[in-house]
Order: sequence, then structure tokens, then C-alpha cells
Amino acid sequence: MSQPETKKSKQQAYCVGLKDVQAAQDRIKGLAHRTPLLTSTTMDKLSGRQLFFKCENLQRGGSFKIRGALNAVKMLGDDVKDVVTHSSGNHGQALALAASLLGKTAHIVMPDNAPTVKRAAVAGYGAKITTCESTQPAREAAAQAVLEGVNPKIEIIAAEPANADDCYRSMASDTHVRLDKYPAQRLVWERMKLVIEPSAGVSVAVALSDDFKAYAGDRLKKVAVVLCGGNQDLDKIPWVVNPAWSTTTTTTTS
Ligand SMILES: Cc1ncc(COP(=O)(O)O)c(C=O)c1O
Repeated sequence: MSQPETKKSKQQAYCVGLKDVQAAQDRIKGLAHRTPLLTSTTMDKLSGRQLFFKCENLQRGGSFKIRGALNAVKMLGDDVKDVVTHSSGNHGQALALAASLLGKTAHIVMPDNAPTVKRAAVAGYGAKITTCESTQPAREAAAQAVLEGVNPKIEIIAAEPANADDCYRSMASDTHVRLDKYPAQRLVWERMKLVIEPSAGVSVAVALSDDFKAYAGDRLKKVAVVLCGGNQDLDKIPWVVNPAWSTTTTTTTS
């Protein structure tokens, strides 16, 4: 008789474990930067705890995505010469850079509203860019067409871990979560002098939020915040485009 499936054994079946992460770390050694971990007295005061900011905005390619891209490309055989993805920027940039470092050709499908700074970087890393409309079906269709051009026998299978299927669930329920990431992004620019992009403001906004404070209470005294990317289009700085996003909470400290 087979053993009953425990929560832990299920998790192990679906997720990468520490050993996989360590193997990946080994694989990409010397290729990804070791980014600094910074602190800020202002941010500590605002959050009511000690925050540690992992500066992946200073990572190669401007975001944490180079780690996964390098790991994935390194695991491909020498016979694989081309890699394809669709991305509005960071993953495309990361894959383009990883491919150029490892001697492969990257084909990146980018939506027509992708930030100029990301498009320029993808081109700068030598990738072949295909532009498409900014809808998910258009992105998938364009990527499929590029893939079929590279290998007509290709089959595409999308996957994510069953116990971390956030993408599947949000697409299924059509939920749109709104987060105040722009004021957090501005606060980091202003007080920490770090250029981060809006998505990196999400983790900062969480660390400063009342919900998180209620959850963490006195239990979590030290919290790591990953500043996941710094690829901000300088012609479209959010609080310049929309002054409503210029409000910060710095007035609560002095
Ligand atoms: C800078 C940055 N932060 C966060 C994310 C979200 O990453 P994930 O989809 O792996 O949670 C992305 C990916 O699109 C990103 O580029």
C-alpha cells in the first residue's frame, strides 16, 4: 500500500527545494552579480521593524530575472542554439543577456507598449525582437510563430507549480489586485537614492502597509525586502506622469 500523501511530500513533488536552489547558485556562479544588502533608518522607522533591502535593481540586466534565465540557458545542451520568450521587458532582457553570455541566439517577443528602456536593452544584448499587440493571446501567438520558425515540430506546454498557481487562479477568477506601488517606488528613490521600477515598489509597499504591520506585529523584527528591478523608463517616471502618485509618507518621520 502506498504512503498517504502529506502536505510536505506534495510540496516536495511540486516545488524546487534548497538543493535545487544551491545547484542553480553553483551553475550561475561568476555570471550573476552578488548584489548589496542595504538598510535605511527612515524605512525602519516607517515600518516599525528592521528592513534589509536586497538590491536586485543593481543586478545584471537590471533585475533578479537574470538568475533564472542564466540557470535555464545553462541547463540546455550544446545542440540548442536558440531561445524564445515573450516578455514586456525584464525577463526578455535577462534571457537576451544570458543567451549572449552563453553563445545562443535569443528571440524576444515584446508587446508594443513595452518600456523603451527595456526594448533598447534587449536590442543592445543582441536579441532578435518581434513586436506584437499587448494582449496575452497576441503575445502567445507571436511567440508560437517565432518558435515554429525556429523548430516547426515544437510543442508548447505552459506550467507552474500546483501549490503556487497564482497566475492560473488570477486568470481563472479575473481578479485584479491594486497596490499602491508608485508612492513606495518614489520613497525609495527619495530616501535611499536607489532607482527601482514600480514592481519593486510592491514589496516595499507591503512592508510598510498596515496589513503587514498587523500580521507581523512584534513577531517579525527583521524583514528582507527584495528590490527586484531597476528598469524604469526615465521618460515615464510615474509621479511625473501622474502627480497623484507623488505622495509619500516621509512626513511621518523627521
Ligand atoms: C522586476 C520584477 N519584479 C517582479 C516580477 C514578478 O515576478 P514573478 O512573476 O516571478 O512573481 C517581475 C516579473 O515580471 C519583474 O520583472
